[in-house]
Amino acid sequence: MHSTPSDTILIIGAGGQLGLELTHELRQRYGASQVVAADVRAPKDAETAQSGPFELLDVLDKNRLEEVMRQYRPKQVYHLAALLSATAEKNPKFGWQLNMDGLFNVLDASVDLGVQQVYWPSSIAVFGPDTPRDNTPQLTIMNPNTVYGISKLAGEQWCEWYFRKHGLDVRSLRYPGLIGYKSLPGGGTTDYAVDIYHKAVAGQPYECFLKEDSYLPMMYMPDALKSTLDLMHAPADQIKIRSSYNLGAMSFSPKEITASIQRHLPDFQVTYKPDSRQQIADSWPASIDDSRARQDWGWQPDFDLDKMTDDMLVHLKQLQPA
Ligand code: SER
Repeated sequence: MHSTPSDTILIIGAGGQLGLELTHELRQRYGASQVVAADVRAPKDAETAQSGPFELLDVLDKNRLEEVMRQYRPKQVYHLAALLSATAEKNPKFGWQLNMDGLFNVLDASVDLGVQQVYWPSSIAVFGPDTPRDNTPQLTIMNPNTVYGISKLAGEQWCEWYFRKHGLDVRSLRYPGLIGYKSLPGGGTTDYAVDIYHKAVAGQPYECFLKEDSYLPMMYMPDALKSTLDLMHAPADQIKIRSSYNLGAMSFSPKEITASIQRHLPDFQVTYKPDSRQQIADSWPASIDDSRARQDWGWQPDFDLDKMTDDMLVHLKQLQPA
């Protein structure tokens, strides 16, 4: 039985890199009481903890998920809880379980409770070593070879299936590496592009775990938030892709981000010590063709590498202890 959805938005994984920023953004737009933050851990930052409702929730606990959803009757659910690429390689079974069963629990509860819209992030990790690396098309050879990538590709197909079979309005983006100053990523292959700014601002050298010429698609957090909300606000008939949209903004190597930082901090030094994450990076695209997102719902990024660097450094300097 469907109960009438309220105007509430539920964010699962609200303590993560994207969840934290999305929670703040949605609370600013719609009012704090409308946006329920949920995470498996209590929030570390005061803003998430105090600015609106918070629920402790393990998305693998189906009963608890349904309890939270019955309590708030959200009209929209953002399901962001997942293990990222490097962590899932170390915990393959748990990575698969969390990324897949978590998604099924959210999709099933959303169908049962009449949720109007679900958002679920996919990733450039759905592509693999057989995929054309440059300007990777929306439709191409996939063959991901990480647990994370396999789970995201399977998840995409399941989202599409729930849309077709159940009419669930589920929408998704294949994010590139996400970079922001408010929150830290955990366990991804693109994490270096966040860590490097923190070291630079602290006046310390950085040891990079990828090679200096390792190109990956990346995106600044304001663009990630904009793309997510633009996608969710687009009329349903404009969403032609129900698996997940390719999404791009910029592409750079560790050497290029270092040069971008050195425009402001000429003494900043980076050394290179590639580890197991290099193999993952080598299997992913270097750049992305996101023309379908641009055509279908008007996607347009605002930030390139230097503009992002300028903004990151200003904000991280403000956050430095005096
Ligand atoms: N940023 C993610 C990772 O590196 C990719 O989606 O795992």
